[in-house]
Order: sequence, then structure tokens, then C-alpha cells
Amino acid sequence: MRVLVIGSGGREHALVWKLSQSPELTKLYCAPGNGGIGEVAELVDLGAEDVEALTEFAESKDIDLTVVGPEGTLAKGLVDAFEKRGLRVFGPNKAAARLESSKAFAKNLMKKYHIPTGTFAVFDDAQAARAYVRQLGAPIVVKADGLCGGKGTIVAQTLSEALGAIDLLMEDKIFRQAGERVVIEERLVGEEASFIVVTDGTTAVPLLPSQDHKRLQDGDKGPNTGGMGAYAPAPVVDAGLQRRVMDDVILPTIRAMSTEGLSLKGVLYAGLMLTADGPKVLEFNARFGDPETQVILPLLKSDLVPLLDDAVEGRLATSAPCVWETGSCACVVLASGGYPGDFQIGKEIRGLEQAAKQPQVAVFHAGSKRDRDRTLTWGGRVLNVVASGSNLEQALKRVYEAVSGIHFDGMTYRKDIGARALKRPAVTP
Ligand code: AMP
Ligand code: GLY
Repeated sequence: MRVLVIGSGGREHALVWKLSQSPELTKLYCAPGNGGIGEVAELVDLGAEDVEALTEFAESKDIDLTVVGPEGTLAKGLVDAFEKRGLRVFGPNKAAARLESSKAFAKNLMKKYHIPTGTFAVFDDAQAARAYVRQLGAPIVVKADGLCGGKGTIVAQTLSEALGAIDLLMEDKIFRQAGERVVIEERLVGEEASFIVVTDGTTAVPLLPSQDHKRLQDGDKGPNTGGMGAYAPAPVVDAGLQRRVMDDVILPTIRAMSTEGLSLKGVLYAGLMLTADGPKVLEFNARFGDPETQVILPLLKSDLVPLLDDAVEGRLATSAPCVWETGSCACVVLASGGYPGDFQIGKEIRGLEQAAKQPQVAVFHAGSKRDRDRTLTWGGRVLNVVASGSNLEQALKRVYEAVSGIHFDGMTYRKDIGARALKRPAVTP
């Protein structure tokens, strides 16, 4: 099978790494990829959102299966363009991807179909939004409706912070159109978890539950980032809770989309808050999580190609079940100094080969570039160092040992990935 992966981050590196192990694979491309992905797949110099050129490429190279990484590509309608030309692609079409690309759409769907989530209201008018937050008071959450690269949510502790967020989004339009409409939502309290399934629009195959670490600094302090680390499985989502999330969130959402005439093919990612009243949805994504994918795929023993292929073909109900390793996997993100604010790129990365040679360790590149025999930093999140072990403690020990051998100027990372889970008993998937 000839496969094309679209995207350029650590998630896509993990996808090509896993896909490359498939006996069904005959050729693997990635567009545009990065410095690390180029060692596993042939890089294609096309932007992840250049729908027309990607469609032509897939057609000219007889690609059998295209796997879309980023949400921006889905929101641009790549799946629609591919399907129009009869090209097989893993991901939802533009209309179904609204589950991620419009928070108002997702919240209204949840309300209509009684899927547990925080109470909310949607506003197109700043004056009305201000009146609403004054009425409810803080803490309160203000969210831009559209895609903002994970930066469109403000959890306001005070009324003035909430009013300031409305100004930034709706008056100053810092995210342009994406923030012209806002969702204002009750602040939920609890532990967060990511629950990701592969779906063909009818059936859902759950992957291991995982946990991201969104804040920059240890102890969940500092600004929100694209994710500073992750681990799987997350013991907080035990077998009973997994069933409850499937029954109360995942399957009702897939049915709701279908009732609305939308086929949710690809990934359904539920970002959950585990509240005292049970799991509630914070957000839906219509693609693999980043960096969750980097810790889920190393634990997947069975082949990824047939799973994605069966989702595209609508035959997940008869698909072979996923087989998982019994241990745990942890990921530490190495970021450029200054990230998520301003940072410099072009710093030489040392120690990569040595780190990757360690047992059960993989180094996925998130923002790097090959420059002859050197690898340079080329983004805010640079590397995802990943290690597996028979339990989380061992995985963490291995991952931090591997991290200690890697260097670049300004390198920064969290030292407490997985710390919360170590306090809990292990979970069997
Ligand atoms: P989102 O953009 O919806 O993915 O939210 C980003 C992050 O903001 C989440 O991972 C949570 O940490 C936080 N967040 C979002 N919505 C809420 C909420 N209703 N209550 C508390 N925290 C929230
Ligand atoms: N890890 C958060 C996300 O993928 O959106």
C-alpha cells in the first residue's frame, strides 16, 4: 500500500514511524514533514494546507491511503477534494470537521443530544457577551469559536480578565474571524484526560486513554502551550470510566453527527474534564492528539494500516481488535527557550543518535530541519522524546535518561511529566 501522511509535527513523525512498520506498506510519503520524518518517509515539498497540489500529488503517485494530521488541513476541505477524485483518505470532510473547527457547533450539538459538557452561551455581539459574564461572574471561560492553534481559550479567574478576553477576541480581533464569535462557558473543575477513538462514522475503536500536560512549567504553572508532554495509559480513566465515556460521550456523538447527516470518519478526540459529576467534554478534535499520539502508538502492537483502512472503508465493526503492550509510554517535549512566546530557531541539536539508540526510546521531531549532517531547531516545540517501560515509573526513568543526553541552546522542558499518575494504581486496558 502506498501511503501519504500530511503534516510536519511530532504527531506526524509518530504516525510515519508506526506506519513504516506495517508489512502492508510499499511506499511512504510525508508532506511537508520535517528533519526527523525524512529519515522514515520520503518528504514532499507541499504545504499541509495546499489542497489542490496535495490532491494532484496523491493522484499522480497512485496513493492508496492518505492520513491527515492537522486540523487546518481538514478545515480547508482536503477530504472533500480527495473524495471528489476518488482518492481514499482518513479524516472527516469539512462539514464533519466543524466538530473541531467551530466550538459553537460542537457545544450546540452536545446540548441538542444531551452529551455531558459545561453550560454555555454563544455570542456574536461583544456587548451581549459582556452582559452575560457580568451576570455570571468569574471564574468563567471565554473561547474563540474558530481554530486558533490551541490559543483561543481563556480560563478567566476574574471578571476583568473575562472582559479583557472578550475585547481581545471580538474588538481587537487578535485571531481575526476565528474570534468574532465566542462561546462563554462555565468553569469546570477536575482532572483532564484525552480519550481518542478511530471511527468510521458508525463504530468506534478506542485507543488508550492518555493525559497531556498543557502548561509550560512544572506543577501545571505558566502559560498554555501546544503540549509539553504526555503519557498513556492514563490510570485515572479506568476500565469503568472508559465504558462510561464510550456510552455517554463517544457513541452518542457519532450517532448525533450521523443524525445531522454528517459522517464522522477518522478520529474523534474528546478532551474531558473528570468532574465530581462525571466526565464532561471540554472540546472535541477531529484528528489525532499531539502529543498524545506520540505515547499511544508505541504501545500499539497491532498494525495501524488495517485499522485506518477499515475506518475509511466503513468496516470497523468487523475489524481485528487493537492489541496493546501491557506497559506505559511517556513523552517529554523539548522546547526552544522563550516558547510559547518568541524564540530563536537554527540551533544545532546534539546527542540525537545516542538517545535514539537507548532501548525502548524513540525521538520524534516536532520542529527540526536537516542541514547537511546537522539537525537544527526549527520551531517552538522541537523534539518529543518518548520511552516505553513495563510501567510508568520505568518509562519515565528511561525518557528522562534519554533527555539528559540531548542538548541545544535554550532547551527547556518539564521535569514532572506523569508525576500525578505515579500516585495512582496502574490500569489494565
Ligand atoms: P480548549 O481550547 O477547549 O481545548 O481548552 C484548552 C484548555 O482550557 C483545556 O485543556 C482546559 O485546561 C481549559 N478549559 C477549557 N474549557 C474549560 C472549562 N469549561 N473549564 C475549565 N477549564 C477549561
Ligand atoms: N493535545 C491537545 C491537542 O491535540 O489538541
